[in-house]
Amino acid sequence: MNDETHNSKRTASTDVRIVHPSATRTEMTWIVMPGDCNALDTVFGGQVCSWIDVCAAVAAQRFCNCNVVTAGMDGLVFKAPIRRGMVAVLQAQVNWAGRTSMEVGVRVEEEDPFTGKRVHTSAAYLTFVAVDTDRKPCPVPQLRPHSEIEIRRHREAQQRRQTRLAHRERIRAGRNTP
Ligand SMILES: CC(C)(COP(=O)(O)OP(=O)(O)OC[C@H]1O[C@@H](n2cnc3c(N)ncnc32)[C@H](O)[C@@H]1OP(=O)(O)O)[C@@H](O)C(=O)NCCC(=O)NCCS
Repeated sequence: MNDETHNSKRTASTDVRIVHPSATRTEMTWIVMPGDCNALDTVFGGQVCSWIDVCAAVAAQRFCNCNVVTAGMDGLVFKAPIRRGMVAVLQAQVNWAGRTSMEVGVRVEEEDPFTGKRVHTSAAYLTFVAVDTDRKPCPVPQLRPHSEIEIRRHREAQQRRQTRLAHRERIRAGRNTP
């Protein structure tokens, strides 16, 4: 598969790789087993978080083709439970990328294997940082949103990043105040 068919190319002048969000799309499925569940026979929240982290990390690595570490997870919502015997379906895609960090959005659904009916159960946004062999942050490719929905996600991810950084700064400033 060449770079173009993989939705990724290098610019001639800068040698910066350009990647479309669709090239990072990742789907993960899992049949819900008793060991995944709480006392109510629905998936334990920590298990959902773990699936989200793995699915998002694969999308992030598809984007930057190097090691990534999870810097944060926010916007996590549990809208509905996923029941034992159902299929958990996770979909992830890179929404935004900065110099060394990127935001990945994940949507989780419950799929009924007998009817195919899907229910939206959870969602989250994760920040990953690309790291080199010394585990130091390293530059990522350029993300080029294409479709209307990718452009909207990119814009909203940028707003969330500004909110995260501003929040961090406010907390730091508050601690430095005598
Ligand atoms: C994530 C980590 C590499 C960042 O290191 P750092 O020295 O703070 O790096 P920098 O300050 O240069 O920040 C690197 C980038 O990450 C972003 N970033 C760092 N922490 C962040 C956070 N909590 N939320 C959002 N963005 C964050 C910065 O804005 C910067 O983005 P940019 O380069 O796109 O502008 C470091 O904190 C780390 O190793 N954390 C532990 C990760 C881990 O163990 N995860 C769990 C297992 S994978």
